[in-house]
Amino acid sequence: MKKIAVVYQSVHHSNTKKVLEHLREKFEFDLFDVKQAENVNFSAYDEVGLASGIYFGKLHSKVLEFFEKHLDEIKKVFVIYTCGDGRKKHGKKYEKFFRKRGLDFSGAFHCKGYDTFGPFKIIGGIAKKHPDEKDLANACVFFENILKN
Ligand SMILES: Cc1cc2nc3c(=O)[nH]c(=O)nc-3n(C[C@H](O)[C@H](O)[C@H](O)COP(=O)(O)O)c2cc1C
Repeated sequence: MKKIAVVYQSVHHSNTKKVLEHLREKFEFDLFDVKQAENVNFSAYDEVGLASGIYFGKLHSKVLEFFEKHLDEIKKVFVIYTCGDGRKKHGKKYEKFFRKRGLDFSGAFHCKGYDTFGPFKIIGGIAKKHPDEKDLANACVFFENILKN
């Protein structure tokens, strides 16, 4: 059995946390928020997942800081993100980013996440009710593949 950790920050509406908690109900892995992860050594993990919402086109800065600090301990990485517009492009971008840093990359999962940032608040937010049941089911398929491959 692969040993997997996921490190996350989920601050806007706990959208990413909702996905991760669903995965935790179904699969065996260690889940840390970035603060808990600070003093953990990740060398013993086969893969480390980085997870957050997208903020101004990026994963949360605390997750990226965590990655830089623990880079030497990480062998293989995957990404789980939620975002208001539901766009896939961030996964591709981070694949390039992690490969450039010499890491194996095993994939990215994304889905929409309820977003009330800035002007979206006035209209009651976008991506309402996301992550929904379908998003959670898709996340499970993704995670199953991470465990298999
Ligand atoms: C400050 C801020 C910036 C954001 N920037 C983006 C963005 O660039 N692209 C996008 O699609 N969503 C953006 N969003 C929406 C979040 O990515 C989305 O709501 C996400 O699901 C939040 O995840 P969380 O609840 O786990 O923190 C932004 C939200 C906030 C609060």
